[in-house]
Amino acid sequence: MRVHKGYRKTGDGKGKKIKISFRLPSYYFKLLVALLLLSGSSLLLYGWPWSIDMVVQPTLLAHERPMPPPEGTLPIAGAERPLTESEAEAMPNPVEPTPESLARGKLLFETYCQVCHGAGGKGDGPVGKKWLFPPDITAPSVVEHGDGRYYSVISYGGMTMPQYSEMLSSRDRWAVIRYIRKLQGK
Ligand code: HEC
Repeated sequence: MRVHKGYRKTGDGKGKKIKISFRLPSYYFKLLVALLLLSGSSLLLYGWPWSIDMVVQPTLLAHERPMPPPEGTLPIAGAERPLTESEAEAMPNPVEPTPESLARGKLLFETYCQVCHGAGGKGDGPVGKKWLFPPDITAPSVVEHGDGRYYSVISYGGMTMPQYSEMLSSRDRWAVIRYIRKLQGK
């Protein structure tokens, strides 16, 4: 029970000091508890007074091991470090022109390159005829370029030619070059 002091107006204009008292309804405390619980849970939801969402998350601590990558997805023969253009151009072709490497190179050329360069390398592939207009890679001006130069263009792209370092492994790029040399009659 609460007791309040108050004034009640009287007819003569003066106030009359009275005591006002009232009893809180019985459900008041239940309501209060429910409100507290409700506000408490919503505060938890919002992480008040500040959000702790960034802290409470799966974090890899210094001493913890990340999950090992699935088998066969880690380069075990060493990964290729990015080369500068001149470094790439100076490289000799480490892949020998064997029937296997030429067959591999042919398959890759047909898959990735023929669409622009054409089956014979003349630049007359369906895309090459309409767009980008690649050079005839059997022309003397291209033939005279070293394997390293081709490797650089295939790996990092040319002015308009796309780059293939992510699609073709280093060995595959060299194998394609062997196949290009074959197309050039070398
Ligand atoms: C989207 C079309 C396109 C595709 C696909 C393409 N090329 Fe090219 N390629 C070009 C263009 C255009 C050039 C002219 C050079 C430039 O882009 O600066 C070129 C140039 C070249 C050259 C000449 C480099 C030099 O020394 O002048 C070689 C070699 C070559 N491409 C090989 C390939 C190989 C191998 C593939 C497949 C892995 C390939 N290209 C896929 C468009 C393409």
